[in-house]
Amino acid sequence: MASDIAVIGLGVMGRNIALNLADHGFQVTLYNRSWQKTQDTLQRVTAEQRVVAVKTLAQLCDSLNSPRIIFLMLTAGPAVDAVIEELLPLLDKGDVIIDGGNSNFHDTQRRWERLKQIDILFLGVGVSGGEEGARYGPSIMPGGDSAAWPLVKPMLQAIAARSEDGEICCQWVGEGGAGHYVKMIHNGIEYGDMQLIAESWQLMQSLALPEAQIAQTFATWNEGVLQSYLIEITAEILQVKDSDGRLRVHSILDSAGQKGTGRWTAIDSLQLGAPLTLISEAVYARMLSAIKSQRVKAAALRDRPPATFSGDKEAALNDLQDALYAAKIISYAQGFMQMHMAANEYGWKLEYGNIALLWRAGCIIRSRFLKHIKQAFERQPDLENLLLDEFFASTLHKAESGWRNSCILGIQQAASMPAMTSALSFYDGYHSATLSANLIQAQRDYFGAHTYHRVDKPEKMVFHTHWLESAEEEQVDD
Ligand code: 6PG
Repeated sequence: MASDIAVIGLGVMGRNIALNLADHGFQVTLYNRSWQKTQDTLQRVTAEQRVVAVKTLAQLCDSLNSPRIIFLMLTAGPAVDAVIEELLPLLDKGDVIIDGGNSNFHDTQRRWERLKQIDILFLGVGVSGGEEGARYGPSIMPGGDSAAWPLVKPMLQAIAARSEDGEICCQWVGEGGAGHYVKMIHNGIEYGDMQLIAESWQLMQSLALPEAQIAQTFATWNEGVLQSYLIEITAEILQVKDSDGRLRVHSILDSAGQKGTGRWTAIDSLQLGAPLTLISEAVYARMLSAIKSQRVKAAALRDRPPATFSGDKEAALNDLQDALYAAKIISYAQGFMQMHMAANEYGWKLEYGNIALLWRAGCIIRSRFLKHIKQAFERQPDLENLLLDEFFASTLHKAESGWRNSCILGIQQAASMPAMTSALSFYDGYHSATLSANLIQAQRDYFGAHTYHRVDKPEKMVFHTHWLESAEEEQVDD
């Protein structure tokens, strides 16, 4: 009997995707360059599961039903191109290649364009949820060649996570690199959420709260509007102790790693002109954390006693809960705004409510809060920005005073809180009908004759002032 699908790359994620597919009754062909990983996977296969292990790509292609469906779970980058090149001579027109790794959407777009020319259907599919998700139900963001979607939909939807209300966290995202783009934004948001939680933890520590109370605060927050996987695991992490009784987290080097997806999100924001301040700050904060030796030297130069706090700690924690929620809303609003701009730039038709739904379960940023985003796009499918939705506008309004208090407190306590404070600056800027950019325009015109528009004249009219001479203003040709 031929297999329904093959999985190439049996690292932890690939192995778990293969076992998840087999759990759902699909016959899976397994292939890994080193046989050891294939054996490791075989050891986990149960008697009810149907798998075929092969040692060559030719055997893999022979083992599959037509059209062939081949799921790559490889490290993003050159390995994906190399395996595709090896496969191509063995494939027939109409066969499907799925890239389920964290590939850069530009690579996915390029592969999709190339493979389209030779009638191979290519899908770039975001998969989130880590090891557990891959094994028992990830969030899946499929994009690429829409002709392949009906062929793979039954399998991908079978293995995907389901939200509390039974919605499947796997829906078609869009052509070309759209699936990997949405996964990239997911990861950027993941960076933002993690940074905001870390900043909140730092501020709590500067208030000299007992560690047990800090862990309990996160656990309590997880019962309310902030309910999310990342808050839940934070509450758990902050209870784990080393053998000396100190929290394990204090023994972990404070230098954050990154594989690149958050950085790609920030790079694309600059290219699109999207003001993605919070996620970008989260990426820079990881970079600042990574220059540990410089920070240690600089800290020795700053002659400051440790921060103390004599105010109302309960009130400060309540403010912080509001601040975290408000800043999180800003982060998601910015992420969705960037997707909006990307859809225009790259020619995708993204369904923003569905994207929020894809993230409701299975993935790292899963949370209760996402249902409000889905509802906002149901109310207004062409919503330009979540901050213009009545629910988010009134929620931010209610949280504003606590948010400001927390930012002020952070600055007083010298707690570095770039994400939370920049979110507030964004909020203030976004809600300002008038900004100070008129002065920037005047400066540009002063030193470079870059010209400007006037608020009291039609936008097509362009002006320049002779600043150094008579300060006379002239209308210039565009
Ligand atoms: C997911 C995660 C995952 C990501 C890791 C590490 O959705 O399951 O986003 O894809 O690779 O979380 O990312 P960094 O190394 O960049 O922190």
